[in-house]
Amino acid sequence: MSNHLWPYPGAIAYGGDYNPEQWPREVWDEDVALMREAGVNLVNVGVFSWAMLEPEEGVFDFGWLDELLDLLHANGIAVDLGTPTASPPAWFFAAYPDARVIDGDGVVMGFGSRGMASHASPEYRRAATRIAGELARRYGTHPAVVLWHVHNEYGVPVGEDFSPRAVEAWRGWLQDRYGSLDALNAAWGTAFWGQRFARWEHVIAPARTPSTVNPAMKLDWARFTDDQLRACYRAERDAIRAHAPQPVTTNFMAHQSWNTDLWKWAEEVDVVSDDHYLWSPDPDAHVALALSADLTRSVARGRPWILMEHSTSAVNWQGRNIAKRPGEMHRNALTHVGRGADAVMFFQWRASRSGAEKFHSAMLPHAGTTSRVFREVVALGSRLGDLAELQGSRVETQVAVLYDWESLWAQDLEWRPSDALQFRERMRAYYERLWRDGVQVDFAHPGDDLSAYRLVVAPASYLLTAGQGENLTRYVAAGGTLLVSCFAAVVDEHDAVHAGGFGAPLRESLGLTVEEFLPMREGETCAVELDGETLPADVWAEHLALEGAQVRGTYRGGPADGAPAVTRHQHGEGTGWYVSTRLDVAALAPVLAAVYDDAGLAPSSSPEGVELMARHGRDADYLLAVNHREDPAHLTVHGTELLTGEPVAGDLTVPAGEVAVVRTERGGGR
Ligand code: GAL
Repeated sequence: MSNHLWPYPGAIAYGGDYNPEQWPREVWDEDVALMREAGVNLVNVGVFSWAMLEPEEGVFDFGWLDELLDLLHANGIAVDLGTPTASPPAWFFAAYPDARVIDGDGVVMGFGSRGMASHASPEYRRAATRIAGELARRYGTHPAVVLWHVHNEYGVPVGEDFSPRAVEAWRGWLQDRYGSLDALNAAWGTAFWGQRFARWEHVIAPARTPSTVNPAMKLDWARFTDDQLRACYRAERDAIRAHAPQPVTTNFMAHQSWNTDLWKWAEEVDVVSDDHYLWSPDPDAHVALALSADLTRSVARGRPWILMEHSTSAVNWQGRNIAKRPGEMHRNALTHVGRGADAVMFFQWRASRSGAEKFHSAMLPHAGTTSRVFREVVALGSRLGDLAELQGSRVETQVAVLYDWESLWAQDLEWRPSDALQFRERMRAYYERLWRDGVQVDFAHPGDDLSAYRLVVAPASYLLTAGQGENLTRYVAAGGTLLVSCFAAVVDEHDAVHAGGFGAPLRESLGLTVEEFLPMREGETCAVELDGETLPADVWAEHLALEGAQVRGTYRGGPADGAPAVTRHQHGEGTGWYVSTRLDVAALAPVLAAVYDDAGLAPSSSPEGVELMARHGRDADYLLAVNHREDPAHLTVHGTELLTGEPVAGDLTVPAGEVAVVRTERGGGR
């Protein structure tokens, strides 16, 4: 990530996607007037406008965009200008049918929706960089433009492509990676099922096969897809940079993304931005929101980030799209801010009358300015205006949770010991435990320098390389506390089981290896006895081979009855904990309590259901409180409540469902 300036210094940016090309010209004037009323200071423009900007190949029509940017600028509204390459026009696919994506079942993805053309298509890359470059040439000096927004959510709705040109690119990528077929055959273990390749042109992509396809091939395919998408991004970014000085971003999807390794992507953008939508079936979707926000800040390496999209109320693309309750939008927005966002943006400004998203909520809903949603939008704009001084302040934590997209890709491959043990489920469960305990966390890559953290938690580290294992072992030896969840350090970077057995890279730090996995049937349960408590467990057990680890919890019932379930090991100056089964959020509480003790952490004493977040500025600290409860919460804090401007001398009441932001002295306050 380069050191370009934050695009909107001195304020929390506020606004959303703005698609005025869907409306008659006279509506634009009403839009900007209402934006001003709502405190909107930044809008994303042009994200899906390719067909309007280049109606025919090589023929550009920038007139309407000139007028729009001038209008916005005259009204003091800054612009994040999109490159429209997530939705190539009809002429593009008519002229270049080979640029269509083909899925793993051989289905050709046609025009009429949106989505990436083939990442390997030279015609697509040429057309995409041309429109990006033309936009940058024309608007690189426009005073309204403060940021560039390349494409939209790379990898969604399609990332993988099995078209002939993608397969050709795949072979080239493998040649670069492995150098020789011998190395490729060794990495993929092709001696198994006689899959050895003797010629490069015989190397296939992992499309549909009669039985399960080579897992190491699939893992490399995920890496390849991610690399290709990033190359498309880089090409557009560089085309912009050739003409325009403003920072460049592309909107991520943090914990909801699959095709993109965001540790790598974050290094390519000037500013990290993220989209987040609540998942309606989840009654505690605000916990997933917090996870996503922390993950986004972490890939941004702690720098301010942009919440590029969220919704004012319901989305339209889930089975049952649940409207946000009064106050929920403010709680959501302030949680993102509490976790490091310096911009709060929505999809979208004005609800579309036509098209696939007409039932999606917006800042200005179909019901207009008298609606509850619009009133809340105006109120949120005013509140964010009161929080301008938070811009640039940082979140600091003492705990890291390991998150690696490569491990996600590998763990979700087919033919695992149990498909009920899932990366995202474990990540959420451990995160939620920490969240409920009021412990603020960063996410970290297993190869990162972890020495600044008192505690490192590894909820889902199925793929852990030998080098990463050494990194964690060094961390423990130097005094760190490491907590590892089951099915960890099983395979290396080629999805091959580690020599030395399951868990071998963590043998020294945990004082054990795993002899056998003992998955359970659906509905089967067992228990773990720990410090006099009986904790329910399910899905998974393991037969551990202890090599010095102390038994802290013992299986009662189930396939490992009487055997060690939870262990603690002293290694060097630090401690390695291992939990060999699936404990739910409640059952993890006593385990984490013991681990906090080892790590010298004191979890917060905030009332249940009250989310507290801290940001640290140069001259002051800020405490953000989000009350998810249906009754008022009482906090002890000293400072000034910024949303009311009132001094707080000890007692602060946060009404049911409300938020509060208190400026406190640097290092003091509570
Ligand atoms: C996002 C997308 C937006 C809009 C939104 C609806 O994923 O970037 O363009 O479709 O979803 O929730």
